[in-house]
Amino acid sequence: MPITFNEEKRIFKIDSLDSTYAIGIFEQNFLVHLYYGKKIPDDNLLKLAYRGGFASISPNVAGCSDNEFSLDIQPMEYSCNGSGDFRLAALSIKDSGGHTTTDIRYIGHRIYNGKPKLDGLPSTYCNTDDEAQTLEIDTLDSFTGAKVTLYYTAFKNVSAITQSVKVENTGSEAFEIEKIASCCINLPSMNYNMINLSGVWSKERTVETRHLAHGIQSVASKRGSSSHNHNPFVALVDDCGSEDFGNAYGFNLVYSGNFAIDIETDYFECTRLVMGINPIDFTWVVEPGESFQSPEAVMVYSDCGTGKMSRTFHELYSENLIRGTWKKKKRPLLINSWEGSGFDFDDNTLVRYAKQAKQLGCELLVMDDGWFGYRNRDDSSLGDWYVNENKLKGGLKSVIERVNAEGMEFGIWYEPEMISPDSDLYRAHPDWCVHIEGRPISPARQQYVLDMTRKDVRDNIFGQMYDVLSKNHIAYVKWDYNRAICEAGSMQLDKAHGKEFFHRFILGTYELMDRITSAFPEILFESCSGGGGRFDPGMLYYMPQAWCSDNTDPIERLTIQFGTSMCYPASAMGAHVSASKRAGIKTKSAVAMAGTFGYELDPNEMSEEDKALVKTESEKFHKYYNVIHYGELYRLIAPTDDEFKCAWSYVAKNKTEALVTVIIKNNTPHRFLHIRLKGLDPDKMYRDNDTDEIYSGALLMNAGFNFTDGGLEMGDSIVKYFTQA
Ligand code: GLA
Repeated sequence: MPITFNEEKRIFKIDSLDSTYAIGIFEQNFLVHLYYGKKIPDDNLLKLAYRGGFASISPNVAGCSDNEFSLDIQPMEYSCNGSGDFRLAALSIKDSGGHTTTDIRYIGHRIYNGKPKLDGLPSTYCNTDDEAQTLEIDTLDSFTGAKVTLYYTAFKNVSAITQSVKVENTGSEAFEIEKIASCCINLPSMNYNMINLSGVWSKERTVETRHLAHGIQSVASKRGSSSHNHNPFVALVDDCGSEDFGNAYGFNLVYSGNFAIDIETDYFECTRLVMGINPIDFTWVVEPGESFQSPEAVMVYSDCGTGKMSRTFHELYSENLIRGTWKKKKRPLLINSWEGSGFDFDDNTLVRYAKQAKQLGCELLVMDDGWFGYRNRDDSSLGDWYVNENKLKGGLKSVIERVNAEGMEFGIWYEPEMISPDSDLYRAHPDWCVHIEGRPISPARQQYVLDMTRKDVRDNIFGQMYDVLSKNHIAYVKWDYNRAICEAGSMQLDKAHGKEFFHRFILGTYELMDRITSAFPEILFESCSGGGGRFDPGMLYYMPQAWCSDNTDPIERLTIQFGTSMCYPASAMGAHVSASKRAGIKTKSAVAMAGTFGYELDPNEMSEEDKALVKTESEKFHKYYNVIHYGELYRLIAPTDDEFKCAWSYVAKNKTEALVTVIIKNNTPHRFLHIRLKGLDPDKMYRDNDTDEIYSGALLMNAGFNFTDGGLEMGDSIVKYFTQA
């Protein structure tokens, strides 16, 4: 049983594959966190919460018989605002009198097989009910009537637990949720390094590591999307831990809107992490009888550093987050027109792309931005999703037929949540964009944002997209989102509900994505946001892959893709070979092959020599597809750790093959390239497919492999394929 309740000690023990999470019901029915870490067989954990006496300045709980019990010192399982716990709160509810004291107590629980869906929100799921167990703990704030249910699901095949929270108003007056976290984690030490993924457009998700310090450290977004700047991911790793050693805890929010992950270390030198919707610019009114569901938090535990943590995330997301036809299906080798042609293309350009790309081994042509309305630059037509026949002569059907006749599938670009001020849609419905009556609207990339909180707006966009997608043979859609939201307001939200805007926006986006992807289950969808500005698990629930970054330089991509690999699998990482000059086709391909792989260049402009190389690399894509996409990632040398090189490998789950990639980032005087491999079976023998030399897994992992090759320079790479001998 992954989840048990010890009636006598009043302890919940939640076991996933190799982790245990435990909660106790204490004095006056308070829920107190007891343990999170490596799996343990027993639950004699009560003493772990004991922190000795407390200063008289800390409030004692009213009516409490134990005068050593104060919420100020306990590791509260789901901390509340205003009732004596002065550290980070997970929940704050404003009552009808305007007070924000919140106080929840245990009232009951249920344990069952499987995992419930979250209303209107993306979440991990079970393929079969015996894959996981769920614990629902009901608590009540008797003053407001807020019934707060904590949902925990433990997966049996991976060391992952998910948590979400639902608040129901069982009282007789409305209240407002001012803050609702999806999880609240307490760890009994502050000796951790915090790893987060920070960035900017064109340099997303760079791994950043810092030691926890007293006070609060946080990552967050207020932009309306998860953002280029901070990913909704944080790991806490033992301060003596690393890629392969030590306890590592990974936290990821399944949400694409404004989020906050706050970590506080307190006066006991203990750590509390609270992750959820960003409370800035958020409140939610809950009328009697109504309820509110939080997004889902994913928590992964590893006893062997961040490497194993990442592999667990990859496994969970590949099996239990990504859905639909393309979940495990081999993705097509695509070529995208954007970097090659920008807005400057017509029907003949596309057919030329298709003809040439087919010969290079491509399978699908993606027509990017610029095919609709009268869009020839980025200053018009978003919202007018009908084909520009001046550009695509004969219409969309005709160009698709011509591309298909070349033996290529066809894909198309959309930016459904946006509207250009210069568009028919805006002229017809100026009130449909996000704005505040009377305030000027700030454009970004010369566009406004559509008010996705409105059903009429979503219906219109759905109708326009449905029309194109249902009447044409379209195999792929790139769903872009190219600006942040300011002057956040909707004509349809009154004063009391104004601060619900951001969450309603993302719920609206999810609803539209759900409708479109359900109506066209055979289409492969890729999300995008000015590169990788919305690369999060929420998006992956609807679309199995996301464009990683507009930066396609293979050297800079190393940092971006390494960071992304902290929690997202290769099959989700959009990566293309472009015309970028810092390396040749071979190295650019080796880097893009750590993701979905494809091309983003004009094939007609390539030299004959490059075309020949592309053909070879396209063949490698097929040859190595299984080991990369269904195997496991072992990061060998991080680009941030080594000035000169970067290396990683994919190892098949049954350990019969391994693909090792080494990239030279800089010219180096050190030419000795000795690397110890990881993840092999020490008892198996492996053949180096270039030389036919045979080595044991034990030798390759302990003695290592000598990749030294006399003339290596910046931009060079080595790709080694080992198969079981
Ligand atoms: C964004 C995307 C690009 C491309 C352009 C088109 O920047 O990230 O890949 O689609 O929009 O305008």
